[in-house]
Amino acid sequence: MYVCICNAVTDHQIRQAAADGVSSLAELSERTGCSDCCGTCAPLAGEILAEAIEQVRPRAFPLPLALAA
Ligand code: FES
Repeated sequence: MYVCICNAVTDHQIRQAAADGVSSLAELSERTGCSDCCGTCAPLAGEILAEAIEQVRPRAFPLPLALAA
């Protein structure tokens, strides 16, 4: 689906950008033009980007430490 109408950026392009290492809306904007015009798409684009980043690069939570007996 189109997320950014001004620059014809799709959710697929945003997910691909995340897979390629894009990690912020500013970077996404530089790469695709998303949200660099009216900005209406910024909240949704940011949401999709954050979700995609989480899928390709899950946060590194420390493993729970085993309690020594
Ligand atoms: S809808 Fe994305 S900049 Fe206008």
